[in-house]
Amino acid sequence: MTNLVSPSILAADFSRLAEEIATAKSAGADLVHVDVMDGHFVPNITIGVPVVASLKKATDLPLDVHLMIDAPDIYAPKFVDAGADIVTIHVESPTIAGDIEKTRAVLEKIRSMDAECGVVVKPNTPAEAVFPFIDICKMILVMTVEPGFGGQSFMADMMPKVKAIRDEANKINPELDIEIDGGINQENAELCCKNGANIFVAGTYLFGKEDIADRIAGLHNLK
Ligand code: DX5
Ligand code: ZN
Repeated sequence: MTNLVSPSILAADFSRLAEEIATAKSAGADLVHVDVMDGHFVPNITIGVPVVASLKKATDLPLDVHLMIDAPDIYAPKFVDAGADIVTIHVESPTIAGDIEKTRAVLEKIRSMDAECGVVVKPNTPAEAVFPFIDICKMILVMTVEPGFGGQSFMADMMPKVKAIRDEANKINPELDIEIDGGINQENAELCCKNGANIFVAGTYLFGKEDIADRIAGLHNLK
């Protein structure tokens, strides 16, 4: 599969977002990873709908919007309206958790608005939690840190989960992208790639780095 790189703007200078994204684009970024946090689902507050609408005007890279919020059923369509190209929702979000029909309804709603959809799992959630959604998702996102903050350490023990999702996807939806997010660098991304991941989110590893183009090229060239 083709490897894609989705720099997380959580590590960018928020006063110069357009400039930072332009730098990432010219360094080879394929997507822009936008971390939306509501202060309830995770203990941090970041970006909301108006910022996504502004980013849409500032770049032609696809916006990969990761919703770390309590109520994705209410807000996912608003992010699509604002210009999100891919919206990922956590299976653990309280308004949809444990409800396969309701979760699928949110994913179907995103698709009906001509955006791509995906589900995300936190470190303590097993691979099986995403299996009922693999058929309709463009992407499954496996967290390799507890969501909430950038700059944390990568959890290598998530690799069996990545492998289990890739094995299941090979039966149901072989084109499925598996994205990984949290503490990613060249060395651990290689491990993720070997286990079946093909989209690499990285914040701290990329933004503000002189050699960002070499770093992105390194992630693209993983085998
Ligand atoms: C964490 C976010 C990540 C984070 C990644 O909750 O979902 O996208 O910004 O940042 P680094 O690469 O610094 O771990
Ligand atoms: Zn993220």
